[in-house]
Amino acid sequence: MSEVIHTIEQMKEFSKKAILAQKSIGFVPTMGYLHEGHLSLIQKARSQNDIVVVSIFVNPLQFAPNEDFNTYPRDFEKDRILCEQNGVDVIFYPGYEEMYPQSYQTYVEVSFLSKPLEGKSRPTHFKGVTTIVLKLFNIVKPTRAYFGKKDAQQLIIIKKMVEDLNLDVEIVPCEIKRDADGLALSSRNVYLNAKERSQAICLKKALDKAKELIDAKIYDSQTIIQNMKNVINSYDLARIDYISINSTDCLSELKEVVLGKTLISLAVFFGKTRLIDNMWI
Ligand code: PAJ
Repeated sequence: MSEVIHTIEQMKEFSKKAILAQKSIGFVPTMGYLHEGHLSLIQKARSQNDIVVVSIFVNPLQFAPNEDFNTYPRDFEKDRILCEQNGVDVIFYPGYEEMYPQSYQTYVEVSFLSKPLEGKSRPTHFKGVTTIVLKLFNIVKPTRAYFGKKDAQQLIIIKKMVEDLNLDVEIVPCEIKRDADGLALSSRNVYLNAKERSQAICLKKALDKAKELIDAKIYDSQTIIQNMKNVINSYDLARIDYISINSTDCLSELKEVVLGKTLISLAVFFGKTRLIDNMWI
């Protein structure tokens, strides 16, 4: 049985006892509507820790006023069953008042890494992410925390926050899970209609194209990006937000791909739905 905890006090108490009993805590922060991508993080946490805690909280702070906070998909009962089936010990499921009472006024921001890529289109997003993740780390006190490479910039920023603020948690990166046709799993994929869904494979197709060029020793970023654009633009419903080639440490734009240190990422709109994907080279 997964125990459901709603309050910060009870969650802290649970973790305190676990730590006193010298048990390791694996933590998977999520916004719920769990899919195989989330479950792969949970399974990894299960295999490496004595206790697994999953948080489910659609964090209003990381959504801009024009974004989809209100319509973001939610299904706690289904999530609870999935957690149970995957051996989760505790589901931390706090309410909004619990996490952000009226008087709330403290924020944490990783300055430079939050600005490029997703930060350009979503300037307040990562401040919301780092604030909630730091709060969750302080409440859950995990030994290890699991983050998907699907949200590459988020992962890089969290690692930096942990380093800069000397947090005692090991960040464990996890591979991207995809549907059979290559579309990266995302809670937002439910927004796509059938025609959009069939064209949404273009993100992975564009990344495959980049990989093909790099395998042929073509490292020039402009050439790679132009080829990726051509792939996306051959799908009539897709509208490119950005395609970018950056270093994985400081996220600066690279003129040339450096093997082992490069992130190729893109964001593409289908109607109002914005999909992201990436590849670590
Ligand atoms: P959410 O989008 O629910 O994702 C929770 C975790 O699952 C993140 O670490 C994300 O990278 C990972 N994930 C999502 N899709 C994945 C996929 N296809 N393959 C592998 N991992 C995947 O990311 C967030 O929530 C929030 O920003 C959060 C960190 C919880 C803070 O609110």
